[in-house]
Amino acid sequence: WTEGLDHGLSLCGAQQPRRHRVNVLSIVVPTYNENQTVRLLIDQLEEALRGLSYEVIFVDDSSDNTPEVLAQLCADHPRVRCIHREGQRGLATAVLEGFRLARGSVLAVMDADLQHPPEVLTRMYREIGQGADVVIASRHLPGGDDGGLHGIRKVISRTARMIGKAALHRVRSVSDPMSGFFMIRRQVIEGVHLNPVGWKILMEIVVKGRYSHLVEIPYAFRPRAANESKMSPAEMINYLRHVARLVVQSPDDRRFWLFALVGISGVAVNTLLFALLTRWRIFPETAAFVSGSLAMIWNFAWNCGLTWRDAPQSDPLGVTFAKYAAVALIGIAVNLVVLSVLFRLLDVPKEWANLTGIIGGALVNYRLNDRWTWRR
Ligand code: GDD
Ligand code: MN
Repeated sequence: WTEGLDHGLSLCGAQQPRRHRVNVLSIVVPTYNENQTVRLLIDQLEEALRGLSYEVIFVDDSSDNTPEVLAQLCADHPRVRCIHREGQRGLATAVLEGFRLARGSVLAVMDADLQHPPEVLTRMYREIGQGADVVIASRHLPGGDDGGLHGIRKVISRTARMIGKAALHRVRSVSDPMSGFFMIRRQVIEGVHLNPVGWKILMEIVVKGRYSHLVEIPYAFRPRAANESKMSPAEMINYLRHVARLVVQSPDDRRFWLFALVGISGVAVNTLLFALLTRWRIFPETAAFVSGSLAMIWNFAWNCGLTWRDAPQSDPLGVTFAKYAAVALIGIAVNLVVLSVLFRLLDVPKEWANLTGIIGGALVNYRLNDRWTWRR
């Protein structure tokens, strides 16, 4: 209680925990002006989680009378705790604050507005019991439904998902990485530095968390029962910044995108040199050979000094370069094979066939460089 006050927070319910209890499920519910639904949510949780050992932690930033409603709830229900933060906003920081106060060894997050059906929690908890580290309630699996979203929000949501999956390899296999409804073992985030920017705390956990077994289960997202969504255009910009930050902070994703950037710079160097050399009346063939070779050295230098900077340098530089050149040749071979299969056998226009080949070759290049040239 006093500790809460020191931080400008007020806390009702029991004191902060020292040790985490096994077999307790802590459900963190962030609230911002949700006075109409919180009581109903507690009733529904009680119904759905009968026989389970759980606690509910509201982390509230409201500007309406939600704090009073919550205080009454805390007084009525021993399982419910709430914390009110004065003059603060932020969904992700609220969730982390909830995790900090939680006593359970299993942590869940859900919305207060009844869009997340409490019955789903029992299915999620069962998955944890069967060995899952992270369980995500997904709207986008067969059997799931995002009916709560409509029109433009659906399109934006899909685009955002595609961007996240393209940029971050751990997000790629997750159908609903933006879900606000999930459950994790505490160990997944213990000792992990989470950056609470914006809304997508789950993405942060998927990218940085320590887990080996991630499970998704489908559920039907319900329309909002009362009050309104707090999603805003500013949050969408925030999302893009969040993805960019995650790329920088995730070593494998950072390496991949640096490699891509170096590759693009190599194409620019190649094109410029070729233009310059041919202007000096050098044969196009000679010019292409010279600019191609120099671009390759350019790429090698940047990949050495930047992309795989943190790889333990085991081979002498000459050997590393020889490996790099060999990998480049393999990349060209892949490019040719893909091009010719697409163009000759599948009638794909030659430009598209070549582009696909280039991308395929680059992916193989990356893989081989990462595993062999700079074996980490
Ligand atoms: N403490 C706190 N502080 N809570 C907040 C804040 C805040 O600044 N902003 C929103 N909340 C609470 C809301 O009161 C609600 O309980 C929950 O966070 C989600 O907010 P909604 O406004 O209901 O979001 P939504 O339904 O539009 O978005 C949901 O779906 C998204 C995917 O479409 C959420 O689950 C998102 O997390 C999810 O990404
Ligand atoms: Mn909602």
